[in-house]
Amino acid sequence: MQILRRIDEPRALARTCKSRGERVALVPTMGYLHEGHLSLVRIARQHADRVVVSLFVNPTQFGPGEDLDRYPRDFERDRALCEEAGVDALFVPEAADMYPQGFSTSVDVHGTLTKGLCGASRPGHFAGVATVVAKLFNLCEPDVAVFGQKDAQQAAVIRRFTEDLNLAVEIVVAPIVREADGLAMSSRNVYLTQDERAQAIVLKKSLGAAVALFDRGERNTAAIINEAEDIVASAPLARISYVEIVDARTLAPVDVIERPALLALAVYFGKTRLIDNTLLPPTGVL
Ligand code: PAJ
Repeated sequence: MQILRRIDEPRALARTCKSRGERVALVPTMGYLHEGHLSLVRIARQHADRVVVSLFVNPTQFGPGEDLDRYPRDFERDRALCEEAGVDALFVPEAADMYPQGFSTSVDVHGTLTKGLCGASRPGHFAGVATVVAKLFNLCEPDVAVFGQKDAQQAAVIRRFTEDLNLAVEIVVAPIVREADGLAMSSRNVYLTQDERAQAIVLKKSLGAAVALFDRGERNTAAIINEAEDIVASAPLARISYVEIVDARTLAPVDVIERPALLALAVYFGKTRLIDNTLLPPTGVL
């Protein structure tokens, strides 16, 4: 596996691969890899001959007071996991190369896609994500890029600007990978204390109860949200940031579910903010 640190390296690699008729996939990550990330690598492999993983803790998507400084990092472990997973190249750029002095541009997706859900409480977050992902697309020139349904709003934002900017990258969205007890895997789960970790299963439980209500015919979103909120609130350490049901395509809030919808939630345990979601009906990915 190649380790690429200079920002001109992945493009050169992609062009060499493409000149041989190979397809190139990119899996963007912030590292501290887990089985969720590795599932994206496996899916990437199904869509391409070469898989590049990028590992960059992108400073522009963290707000003031968020966890940029303490975001978990373990390069050697990440390198070993990528090697084992058959990744062809690991791209590890420096912040000073990604954002040199004078950097002044941002990719900002407007409207309902970024207004609600995490966009409401994390101003600038999705502009940071869209900007870095657009840069990674330009630097790595992938044919296909794989993202997780775990970050459903992020995936929707990425699909939007890729189409709006006519970028020649196919976007694939992969299902959420969970721990045995249902907690969605996340690099941030290591922040949880033992008690918080035990109580964090209410996220998946609340989604399960919401799906059960939906399956029994409930279409009123207030009723489904109430049920989900009650279950989250049964965990004494949980503090709800939001529980919302939105249109799966536009992410605009809906009162009555008539088209595929997304139930998304964000919950604090201490300072740790966890997110999870399900589609209603609960089939497929965004
Ligand atoms: P990160 O949180 O490291 O996640 C990298 C990718 O892994 C994202 O597409 C995310 O949705 C996916 N992922 C995370 N947990 C998952 C799980 N449990 N199951 C399936 N997929 C999962 O998301 C980011 O990094 C950054 O915002 C990034 C896109 C790299 C831009 O900086």
